[in-house]
Amino acid sequence: MNDNPIGVYDSGFGGLSIWRAIYEALPNESIVYLGDGKNCPYGSRSREEIRQLADEAVRLLLGRGCKMIVVACNTATAAAIEYLRAKYPEIPFVGLEPAVKPACLSTGTGVVGVLATERSLEGDLFRRTAARYADKVRILTAVGEGFVEIVENDAEQTPEAEETVRRVLEPMIAAGADRIVLGCTHYPFLIPVMERVIGERNVEIVDSGAAVERRVEHLLDECGLRAGVGHKPEYEFVTFADDEYGRRLEHKAFGR
Ligand code: DGL
Repeated sequence: MNDNPIGVYDSGFGGLSIWRAIYEALPNESIVYLGDGKNCPYGSRSREEIRQLADEAVRLLLGRGCKMIVVACNTATAAAIEYLRAKYPEIPFVGLEPAVKPACLSTGTGVVGVLATERSLEGDLFRRTAARYADKVRILTAVGEGFVEIVENDAEQTPEAEETVRRVLEPMIAAGADRIVLGCTHYPFLIPVMERVIGERNVEIVDSGAAVERRVEHLLDECGLRAGVGHKPEYEFVTFADDEYGRRLEHKAFGR
């Protein structure tokens, strides 16, 4: 048993989609959410740069006493998770990767679309997983150009957001994709917009939030790190940006 917080880290607001899944499923766990904010977006930064930022983030979270760290960012996972696991072997890490497997196993058309950042799509993890299904499924990839900026600016409800999403989604659907994998934790905030764009067509959005939450639970049990049943959780939101950004993180987390 361990009442210390779980650390959840992303370049910005995106990891709040994972924060939400953990918050809802594990009501006794305290969580420290770190949304970098200052260096967002990570998507086209170099691997080396992302490793340094992730390392700085982990040090901050460990300074807050975190017992486990969820790298709630596909890009940081692709660039840095192996490095972090090697550098902090005593800390259990959970990383994010696009949910290619369930999409490939369930597609009816044999065409799967994967949306992620540039850095995630060229990561070894994604390439290896995609290669495993390449003989049966056609995997189309695209960067969600502009998606991260929309979410960071709380602009999901604007006509520009719909236009930006349509521009990326339509070619995939036109090419026959019936599964769209969200390989970036910012993208789930755009699910309502994606659903509008998809309309009546038989296309399913595949998100990894629930699977990541299950992995967190499993690892808590495996390491004997669950908080006590009567533990009153605390939620903290920290950032490398300014106080205003920290407040916005908290508002977005609680859907205000
Ligand atoms: N939310 C992040 C991800 O899952 C990164 C977005 C970005 O900073 O480019 O990939």
